[in-house]
Amino acid sequence: MNQVKVRIENLYKIFGRNPDEAMQHVREGCGKDELLEKYNHVLGLQDINLELHERSIEVIMGLSGSGKSTLIRHINRLLEPTAGRVLIDDEDVTAMSQAELRRIRQQKVSMVFQKFALLPHYTILQNVQFGLDLAGGMSAAEKADKAAYWLERVGLKGVEDQYPGHLSGGMQQRVGLARSLATDGDILLMDEAFSALDPLIRTDMQDMLLELQSELHKTIIFITHDLDEALRIGDRIAILKDGALIQQGTAQDILLKPEDNYVRRFVADVNRVKVLRVSAITSPLEMLPADADSSRAISVRINSRVEHLLNEVVLKDPTLIRVTDKQGHPCGFVSRESLASTIGRDDEAGEA
Ligand SMILES: Nc1ncnc2c1ncn2[C@@H]1O[C@H](COP(=O)(O)OP(=O)(O)OP(=O)(O)O)[C@@H](O)[C@H]1O
Ligand SMILES: [Mg+2]
Repeated sequence: MNQVKVRIENLYKIFGRNPDEAMQHVREGCGKDELLEKYNHVLGLQDINLELHERSIEVIMGLSGSGKSTLIRHINRLLEPTAGRVLIDDEDVTAMSQAELRRIRQQKVSMVFQKFALLPHYTILQNVQFGLDLAGGMSAAEKADKAAYWLERVGLKGVEDQYPGHLSGGMQQRVGLARSLATDGDILLMDEAFSALDPLIRTDMQDMLLELQSELHKTIIFITHDLDEALRIGDRIAILKDGALIQQGTAQDILLKPEDNYVRRFVADVNRVKVLRVSAITSPLEMLPADADSSRAISVRINSRVEHLLNEVVLKDPTLIRVTDKQGHPCGFVSRESLASTIGRDDEAGEA
């Protein structure tokens, strides 16, 4: 189990002239709509409690205006909370001095923006170096080496001396990513970082991020409102609505046990068979009836996709589906009922 890297506790953010006074109304039960209508304040975040794990890609999803950017900006304290705390490695960010904050922003937390935010009159190499210039403590040669290394890692060797304006959007975003990675921070905040890219380029960027992450094991906090992207890259997904956290869990949790209609609407169009893994529908061996018919048994790996299992079922019409763990040891079975309910579940999604 991964440790908690970022802990968000009872976080509220109210926008307006007098947030503290508005906070009183919220504490007394006033909701987002009422706060806006009656008191002309925006309830950006309400009572968010969330743990984000190290070595994970933690996705934050929600409709436009649900509070995603507001939430992520509290992590490096670009925004001050109206109430509540944010802790990084158990250090309270909301209580830090300006000097401590600077250290956190330069050494621990880096940000990748949707609109690349590159400096147009700096070369690509200088743009990547820029983050290192701010952090200080490195010789010019070290900085140049480091910048060149990360440019190579994001697939941009050879463009060091060009200017941002000469690069495509996808390439510019790679520069943005290299700039963030070069600072060696262990938390990466990515706010809709791939949203402005064409679908194919976007998929390439997702693949690159996954590949880098398999080696770097950072805490990546990734905002998107694209569910496919969330399911593809997220270890876990947190869903916000009107500034409140509705549900946090793995893709499997969200797909199989949506907390409410809002989440259900998000996942309604997802091809579950493509996304779910066999582990989500595996029953423990103890539950296998003693008289189970094993005349046509097949085995599947617990981490394979349900889609793969379905192909096997169609081909072999098994009487028993055994599940094996990563080492190949038997660890459970899939009943016909749970397989059927996974395939059939889309029918009921609309009515609830
Ligand atoms: N500086 C601000 N002043 C007033 N209201 C704000 C401010 N920033 C955000 N809000 C409001 O707070 C709420 C959450 O906004 P936020 O930008 O966090 O949403 P989001 O989920 O990132 O949306 P999007 O997907 O469009 O980026 C919205 O109602 C927004 O209008
Ligand atoms: Mg936003």
